[in-house]
Amino acid sequence: MNDIQVLIVDYGSQYTLLIGRTLRELGVRSIILSPKKADAWLSKNTPKAVILSGSNSSVHNQGAPTFPSTLDTSGKKYFILGICYGMQLLAHKLGGVVERPHLHREYGPALATLDTKNPLFLGIVQKTEVWASHGDTVTTLPKDFTSIAVSGGISAMADKDSRVLGIQFHPEVVDTKEGKKILQNFLTLADCVKDWDPVNLIHEIQKDVLAVVNKEKNKKNIILGFSGGVDSTTLARVLASVLGERLVCVTIDTGGLRANELEEIKENADHAGVKNLVVIKAEGEFIKKIGTTIDGEEKRAKFREVYKRIFEEQIKKHDAGFIAQGTLATDIIESGKVGESAMIKTHHNVGLAWEVDDLHPFRNLFKYEIRELARVMKLPKVVHERNPFPGPGLFLRVVGTPVSVDRIELVREADRTVNDIIKKYDIAKHISQLIVALLGVNSVGVKGDERVYGHSLAIRAVQTSDFMTVKGYYFSEEIINEITNALTKHKDIVRVFFDMTPKPPATTEFE
Ligand code: XMP
Repeated sequence: MNDIQVLIVDYGSQYTLLIGRTLRELGVRSIILSPKKADAWLSKNTPKAVILSGSNSSVHNQGAPTFPSTLDTSGKKYFILGICYGMQLLAHKLGGVVERPHLHREYGPALATLDTKNPLFLGIVQKTEVWASHGDTVTTLPKDFTSIAVSGGISAMADKDSRVLGIQFHPEVVDTKEGKKILQNFLTLADCVKDWDPVNLIHEIQKDVLAVVNKEKNKKNIILGFSGGVDSTTLARVLASVLGERLVCVTIDTGGLRANELEEIKENADHAGVKNLVVIKAEGEFIKKIGTTIDGEEKRAKFREVYKRIFEEQIKKHDAGFIAQGTLATDIIESGKVGESAMIKTHHNVGLAWEVDDLHPFRNLFKYEIRELARVMKLPKVVHERNPFPGPGLFLRVVGTPVSVDRIELVREADRTVNDIIKKYDIAKHISQLIVALLGVNSVGVKGDERVYGHSLAIRAVQTSDFMTVKGYYFSEEIINEITNALTKHKDIVRVFFDMTPKPPATTEFE
């Protein structure tokens, strides 16, 4: 395999892995490393470009993350692009000034005016919408640097040869309209060539997994946590063709599955060419363990405990030496496992300590890329277009009140009803994920001329390409009315709320 062309130094921004993803979309492989690991890597490798990521830190904080000590900031060895904190760090270290003004803080969309003569902004309109999120700002540039964009304050800078560059906004976030083009311009400047394609990636994953699982003479089986979602189905497809009978896919019926889901899981296992599918019926165990817990994180912790125990039993039963999971970069970021990024949610399958080796072949990839792999491997549309569903399932859709078999059943039915309406109006293609949740908010209503005191349901349809940021989907008035009428037919449902809050500040799920 040819050398990695781009090093991304991760200072802990929620968006760091999106930089890598955007570069892959542009056909270029990159490696993401913490400043410490980047230090060692740079002493043995010379990339064509280095990108310094954003961070939740300030350059003025004590112990703020800094340059890898082997980084050559002259721009002679490689091109450098600092993004957000990365730009502030460049400015601060190279003799400029970074301040925290009361005005000019930017959180969210902003309008930037670009110097379109600079190669970084070549071919881009002068005034463009960008996505920024920063309190600190570069107020004085280092010597020999010029400002190449403004939006309130200085929002991009370049040294005199445009080899060391900084941008205050985030080109890796889709809300920066021309973000991809800016990153493409940077890759062109640095003379990077296309070296990423899905077929290569599939072969690389297969090769890497085989190298691990064939290490010992006594070749053990590989257990794969199979939820039937796009990630585990695609992983099963990638692995089944090289592992055959050694791959044992395990599906747990947790009691939190949606209507018809078990049948769909079995169909997807067939599509993936899975030879061994084991379905464990464990409905009672999860609900018993979760008991009266209301807190989302506590629920996940309890869910994880049962989940882990069942998998451990299966590992023993099938004499497995490895456990493979379709964990994605997003799951790892939001569980706080990448560099310095903050913990948002502990995804049920991330960071579990197994007695056997665990394999996460998709750990650097995003949903978008998995869908691409699924398409390349000719998995049907029902797989590569499948909306995600959280592992703890409907347990996360009973919010602010304890779960019970009845409440889960109510949410399951409501989810089926809303999905049927979405199908009828043919709008599924506009929705990345649908969440129907029972809220622990009881309120008064009137049914059949009588006072009722009952539950509320919340409907949340979101649009996104990566689930790092989401936008609420607006149903038409006709659909809202139809959903509301259908759901309030249930004797216990009095109100239906529609939630359009974007992420951030909300998350996709309610907990
Ligand atoms: P959030 O709510 O974090 O969700 O914006 C992003 C995506 O992740 C899914 N999600 C989970 N998936 N285990 C999972 O396997 C979990 O614990 C979990 N929590 C959230 C969520 O449904 C959305 O697609």
